[in-house]
Amino acid sequence: MLERSSKLIQRVSSGIEGLDEMLRGGFPEGHVVVVIGDSGTGKTTMVLQYIMEGLLKNEPGLYITIEEDKESIIATAKAYGWDMEKYIKENKLALLKLDISDMKATARQIKSELPGIIKTFGTKRLVIDSITLFSMIFDDATERRIRLVGLIKAIKKAGITALFTAEVNADNTLHSKDGIVEYSSDGVILLQQNEFDTSIKLMTRVVKMRRIRHDRLYRPYEITDKGLVVFSNEMVFHEVGMYDVPASARKPRQPV
Ligand SMILES: Nc1ncnc2c1ncn2[C@@H]1O[C@H](COP(=O)(O)OP(=O)(O)OP(=O)(O)O)[C@@H](O)[C@H]1O
Ligand SMILES: [Mg+2]
Repeated sequence: MLERSSKLIQRVSSGIEGLDEMLRGGFPEGHVVVVIGDSGTGKTTMVLQYIMEGLLKNEPGLYITIEEDKESIIATAKAYGWDMEKYIKENKLALLKLDISDMKATARQIKSELPGIIKTFGTKRLVIDSITLFSMIFDDATERRIRLVGLIKAIKKAGITALFTAEVNADNTLHSKDGIVEYSSDGVILLQQNEFDTSIKLMTRVVKMRRIRHDRLYRPYEITDKGLVVFSNEMVFHEVGMYDVPASARKPRQPV
């Protein structure tokens, strides 16, 4: 059941049942949410799942890829059994690869062309995979923030719900590499791959999701041949301790 304070906010399902449960119903409509994770934690898989969920519900999608080629994204989707080409042919999905050689011009282009594309396709769901390169192209932190905020504003004006992927900061695994996108976004989801004593565990956490109540605990997930599966009712335990957070994210305890 939805929380009282969140009642009026429409939700957009993520395509991942356990994640929707952590969010008490899905992403708030119109939010820009960033999925932060290390290499291979399943960021692309998660945003593909989000786009495919929309297509199944007849909600057109726009997938902007910045690093990977279109063919590679289509092949990744295909390996999970998701046929992007069918939806591209039906004009329900647009897959764009941005030119990184002139990212500044590309940034201007996205901002000016996004509203038109969204209107033409009736786009409801947008993905930018990954936002890190877009952001890091601007050397100056202030310009980086201005560009990101400008992009987010354009997306919000169009009234669509967007997911960005972002690389993690290797020195602080709770933050993105650019250190900005998490502040400018409405929501932050972490995907982590943690080494415990004898095993490696994947765990996810909703760090923020503006305007709703949500689960804040780390929950285990797996990448299966059908995509991400989040175990929203399970805790992540340290094998020899009783913590529900990985060592890398644990702060030293203060004496009481
Ligand atoms: N079809 C599949 N079935 C099961 N697991 C898969 C499948 N495809 C990928 N994986 C798992 O997912 C991992 C990568 O997922 P994905 O590409 O979504 O991660 P990513 O975080 O986007 O990585 P990158 O940092 O390269 O962008 C692979 O390393 C593999 O462990
Ligand atoms: Mg990826």
